[in-house]
Amino acid sequence: MKKPTNKRIVLIGFRGCGKSTIAKQLAEMLEWNYVSTDRLIEEKKGMSISRIVEENGWNYFRKLESEVINELQASKRSVIDTGGGVAIEHGREIDKLLDSSIVIWIDASLADIVQRLRNDANRPLLNQGNFIEDIEFNYKKRQPHYQNLAAYRFNTSVESAEEICNKIISEMRSA
Ligand code: S3P
Repeated sequence: MKKPTNKRIVLIGFRGCGKSTIAKQLAEMLEWNYVSTDRLIEEKKGMSISRIVEENGWNYFRKLESEVINELQASKRSVIDTGGGVAIEHGREIDKLLDSSIVIWIDASLADIVQRLRNDANRPLLNQGNFIEDIEFNYKKRQPHYQNLAAYRFNTSVESAEEICNKIISEMRSA
C-alpha cells in the first residue's frame, strides 16, 4: 500500500468530538507517530490538566500549550491531537505549524458532545458557570474558527472513526 508522504496531520476541534480516538487510529494506519498536546503538557508538568488549571488558572495552561505547539514545529510523520482551544485561545504562533500541516477538523453534534462529556471529570469548565452553558457557548464561539483553519471536516456523529480514517487516507493519496 502506498503511504502518503506529507509531513504531518493536525486534528483540531471541540472537546469530546473524538480527536484522540481518530488520531491514534490514523497514526497506527499510517505508521506515523501519535502526538497529543494535552499529554505533552501533562508530562511537562507531571500533573493532570484539571490540576494545572485548578492550581494555576487557564492563562498558565494556555502558555504551556503555546510552548508545546512551538516545540512541535519540527515534527514529521506525526498525527497531532490538539486540545480544543489550540489555534483559538492563543496568539497566532500556531499558524506556522498549521501552514505546513494537513489540518483536519473533527466535529460532532452538540447533543453527542454533552452526552460524551457528562461524566468526564478531567475537563474543567472553560469560562461559563455550568456544564451545559460552558459547552454550548464555547462550541458556538469556536465553530467558525475551526472552519477557517481546516482543510477538511469530519463529523463523528455521522461516521465511525474507522470510516473517517479511511477517508482521510484516501484524500491524502489523491491530493
Ligand atoms: C480544552 C480542551 C481540552 C484541554 C483543555 C482545554 C479547550 O482538550 O486541552 O481542557 O479549551 O477546549 P480536549 O479537546 O482534548 O478535550
